[in-house]
Amino acid sequence: MLDVSGLTAGYGHGPVVQDVALQVERGETVALLGPNGAGKSTLLGALSGTLRHRSGHALMDGQDLLTLPTHAIVAAGLVQVPEGRRMFAPLSVEDNLRLGAVRLAGRSASTLAARFDYVYTLFPRLAERRLQRAGTLSGGEQQMVAIGRALMSSPRVLLLDEPFLGLAPLVVDEILSALTALRAQGLTMVLVEQKLDIALPFTSRAHVLIKGRVALTLPSAELARRPDLPRLYFDLAHSAR
Ligand SMILES: Nc1ncnc2c1ncn2[C@@H]1O[C@H](COP(=O)(O)OP(=O)(O)O)[C@@H](O)[C@H]1O
Ligand SMILES: [Mg+2]
Repeated sequence: MLDVSGLTAGYGHGPVVQDVALQVERGETVALLGPNGAGKSTLLGALSGTLRHRSGHALMDGQDLLTLPTHAIVAAGLVQVPEGRRMFAPLSVEDNLRLGAVRLAGRSASTLAARFDYVYTLFPRLAERRLQRAGTLSGGEQQMVAIGRALMSSPRVLLLDEPFLGLAPLVVDEILSALTALRAQGLTMVLVEQKLDIALPFTSRAHVLIKGRVALTLPSAELARRPDLPRLYFDLAHSAR
C-alpha cells in the first residue's frame, strides 16, 4: 500500500529524518515509535507534503507521493491527523469536519451526507455537539474532530500523530475503540505513539525511530516480548537530542 524508501527530510538546515525505509501493507496498522525529537512528526509531514524539504520515495500504489503537492496527496488517499489537533477554534464541529471533505469536492450532496453520518456514528459525541464551536470542546472531543475531519475525505491511509497525548485514560479508551473499529473495517493506519502499552497491542508491526533513523522494525507482538523492552521504555521516555 505504502512503500517508503530513502526518505530524508528536514527544515532546510540539515536533515532531521535520514534514509528512512518503511512499508505498510493494505489494511495493516503500523506503529511509529520513538522518543521526543526523534523525527516522527517530521516523517509524517514529509509524507503528507506539509514539509517541503524532502527527498526519497513514498510509493502508494505505484504513485510517488513525494512528487505531489499536499492537496494531491490527500486526493491520492493519504491523510494526516496532525499532532496537537489543530482545530479551527471559532468554527463549529460540523464546519471543521466539512473542511476535511476536500477529497469529496465536486461529489454529490448525498456522498457528503453519508460521510457526516459515518463520522457521527463513529463519534456520537460529535453529533451531539455538531453546532458547538470547536474551540470550546474538551481535548478528547477536539481529537475526535481531528480524526473525524481526516475521515471526511475517505482516506485509504490514515496517519495519526500522537492522538492520545494529554488525554485522560477514559477518553483514550473511547478514541482507541473508535480506531479499533476503523481497523476492523480494514483502514490502513500509521500510529505515532510514545506509549508502548497503547501502541503495541493495537498494531501489527512497529518501527522505532531514533535520531531520525529507523533503528528497529519488527512485529509488535515480538517487540512486546523482548527482554530489553524496559530499556526501550526508558529510551522512549527520554529526548533523543
Ligand atoms: N518547524 C520546525 N523547524 C525547525 N526544526 C524543527 C521543526 N519542527 C521540528 N523540528 C526539529 O526536528 C527534530 C524532530 O522533531 P519532530 O519531528 O517534531 O520529533 P518527534 O515528532 O519525534 O517528537 C527536532 O530536533 C525538532 O527540534
Ligand atoms: Mg511529534
